[in-house]
Amino acid sequence: MANDTAYLKVDGEEYELPIIQGTLGPAVIDVSAFQTAGYWTYDPGYKVTAPVESKITFIDGDKGELLHRGYPIDELANQADYLEVCYALLHGDLPTTEQKKDFYYKVSRHMGVHEQLRKFFEGFRRDAHPMAIMVGVVGALSAFYHDGLDVSDERHREITAIRLIAKMPTLAAMSYKYSQGHPFMYPRNDFSYAENFLYMMFATPGDVNYKVNPILSNAMDKIFTLHADHEQNASTSTVRLAGSTGANPYACIAAGIAALWGPSHGGANEAVLEMLDEIGSVENVDEFMEKVKRKEVKLMGFGHRVYKNFDPRAKVMKETCDEVLGALGITDPKLALAMKLEKIALEDPYFVERNLYPNVDFYSGIILKAIGIPTSMFTVIFALARTAGWISHWLEMHSAPFKIGRPRQLYTGEQRRDFVKLEDRK
Ligand code: SDX
Repeated sequence: MANDTAYLKVDGEEYELPIIQGTLGPAVIDVSAFQTAGYWTYDPGYKVTAPVESKITFIDGDKGELLHRGYPIDELANQADYLEVCYALLHGDLPTTEQKKDFYYKVSRHMGVHEQLRKFFEGFRRDAHPMAIMVGVVGALSAFYHDGLDVSDERHREITAIRLIAKMPTLAAMSYKYSQGHPFMYPRNDFSYAENFLYMMFATPGDVNYKVNPILSNAMDKIFTLHADHEQNASTSTVRLAGSTGANPYACIAAGIAALWGPSHGGANEAVLEMLDEIGSVENVDEFMEKVKRKEVKLMGFGHRVYKNFDPRAKVMKETCDEVLGALGITDPKLALAMKLEKIALEDPYFVERNLYPNVDFYSGIILKAIGIPTSMFTVIFALARTAGWISHWLEMHSAPFKIGRPRQLYTGEQRRDFVKLEDRK
């Protein structure tokens, strides 16, 4: 696919570096020849590094565009449901009616978890952060499927993807129920994916006629879709790097959950609500923004490594926020506060010069709060939804020959020196 050439001139030599153009986005320069020249590339934070080729998701940060398998995110969020998007991420296109029926049946029948897995929860204190529980129990799934799992077998890989997408809502709801001291709820075959999640989160064994409000389940499903995948973000790159060692896919997804937890990544949705709580009221916004400009705090839910324009997911999230709060008749003062922050940030040169726009995490917390989801569960929901993206990238990696990921470094430590005995050390 190389269709042009760049050149490296160093130490009196010239090296050809093939330029490779993808379907969309910037072309890449194959820098393999750096090794021949005796150099490594240096790119802290991987700002301009493409470690992989992928066909799953495309992001244009300048235009604020996000495509999954070529479909714009706003069309997927408004016209497809989350499991259809999962199918597209896994298989390359949206399902036909038959394919959708088969896929939904398989997912619904794999939502249950091994009874013995329930005992893992008892090792945690009741006040354990649910993300700590999720890292543990998702990793523990390896113990239940390790023997039957041959990652070189495509059928094993396929069923693993379905198991993970199917079990994440159940494990997420269990991590919440455990923190409340409530009994775990079993998934129901007559509920949709999002309905089942809300049922397992909020129903109790006595609710024999439990009904899920369609406004809430539709909003939940849309939030899942908006978080499903996002190219080579930190947690997806973690899953790929772990997967490149041949590690068990359940362990790889647990690694992704751990990476997502950070406040600079998926932990931001929880941090946005904490920030809004800290600001308290619209009167305090100006003072808070001065603290941001003095770099004492960050404006959580703003900024993005790739988007230097509006995050298209934030737009859909904001529309959904208005729909849900309107339909439920909720006037959340945090929404007014968030909109004031957004207005200031979009007009203030400090933020405009730095291309700081709302990202996917800015409004999601307000909707989740309206649905009744506690703040501590926000990142768990992000992890639940992103599992489809993580496992799709894992499958894509396994669909062709791959090498273990092994970056190098710029070493600035000590020169070689002689060992000094303990008694002679000063
Ligand atoms: C997600 O990668 C993905 O795709 C992630 C994600 C996904 O779906 O997987 O989209 C999900 O993680 C969204 C981002 C959620 N995180 C937050 O909302 C936390 C707040 N945001 C920042 O931490 C920050 O914007 C990052 C981490 C998201 C991006 O950081 P970068 O690209 O490394 O940018 P930077 O730190 O180099 O910032 C450039 C400038 C700096 O100022 P100067 O040094 O130039 O003066 O912008 C400033 C930063 O101080 N800045 C902010 C800011 N984000 C950047 N200033 C105040 N508030 C912020 N939020």
